[in-house]
Amino acid sequence: MITLGIESSCDDTGLAIVNSDGKIIDHITSSQHEIHAQYGGIVPELASRDHVKKFIPLLDILLKRNSLTISAINLIAFTNGPGLLGPLLVGASLSKSLGWSNNIPTIEVNHLEAHIYSPMITEENLRPPFISLLVSGGHTILSAVDVNFNIQTLGATLDDSAGECFDKIARKLGLSYPGGPQISKRAENSIDNTFIFPRPMIKSNNYDFSFSGLKTHVINVVNQTDLTDENINNISFELQNAIVETLINKSKKASDDLGINNIVITGGVSANQKLRDDFSLLKGCKAYFPDVKFSTDNGAMIAYAGLLKSKTCKFKNNYKIKPNPSLTL
Ligand code: KG4
Ligand code: ZN
Repeated sequence: MITLGIESSCDDTGLAIVNSDGKIIDHITSSQHEIHAQYGGIVPELASRDHVKKFIPLLDILLKRNSLTISAINLIAFTNGPGLLGPLLVGASLSKSLGWSNNIPTIEVNHLEAHIYSPMITEENLRPPFISLLVSGGHTILSAVDVNFNIQTLGATLDDSAGECFDKIARKLGLSYPGGPQISKRAENSIDNTFIFPRPMIKSNNYDFSFSGLKTHVINVVNQTDLTDENINNISFELQNAIVETLINKSKKASDDLGINNIVITGGVSANQKLRDDFSLLKGCKAYFPDVKFSTDNGAMIAYAGLLKSKTCKFKNNYKIKPNPSLTL
């Protein structure tokens, strides 16, 4: 059984094929970073158009280089939300049309759930229960996943996501989009940091986050600072420290309070090396991350989650194209 995964929630056109065990046969991701970099953020209409342009040629490449035709596909899994409506519509229309015209069932996948299960693609023995920290451009959500794959949200950001905080400060520092990897690169070159930023809500007795106060604080500092290379490196270093420490503190609290030792960290920000290094130093719990190439948006996690869903829940095939930009966990 082969499942085709289609991802188009934002600015990455992702396709992948997995076998009946969820092993990746092949995957392709085409990023639109260059298109949006000049605007400092994603322009939804440009994102939709690029998905329209890329999907069929990429599907062709994926099938041809694996000597497959579309008739070899047994299930099409696609992102039905959350995300940008236009890009979601492109992926949903493609998936449903392919399914309808080739008599292949289609299954809707929640993008957030796909991120949460993405480490299981490579960590074969990883199964719930685990604490999940999902940190992406749009979301910062801490949850507990039980043995039956039920997800209970423990807390979330009250305002900006961690990724958004990276992206907005990067823009303010004159770094390109997406900001997370740029901040991380600059932080590596920091020597003799003199900046000290707050660790938001680190003492609050709940599992919520807030990054807009930190963002405003850093913007105020930037406004009063001569933006030399050295200062950009040091601000990046301290911003990364503040975000990483906050994320780790709340996740560890959830792990201790609920007595669940495994912590699964996913979403674009989980590509961050400092976050990976510091989580792995924690005592009394074990941190799991997706393969770095499956941290940011990709088709493999959609194919994997679609296959998992088809095995664990009953689903009814339909050809209604109804993406939900505000889908939650
Ligand atoms: O999961 P994702 O690809 O898209 C959404 O679903 O939002 O996450 C994108 C976010 C962006 O905010 C980007 O700056 C951040 O992930 N990101 C990083 C790194 N790589 C991507 N943040 C920190 N360090 C990184 N290495
Ligand atoms: Zn994502």
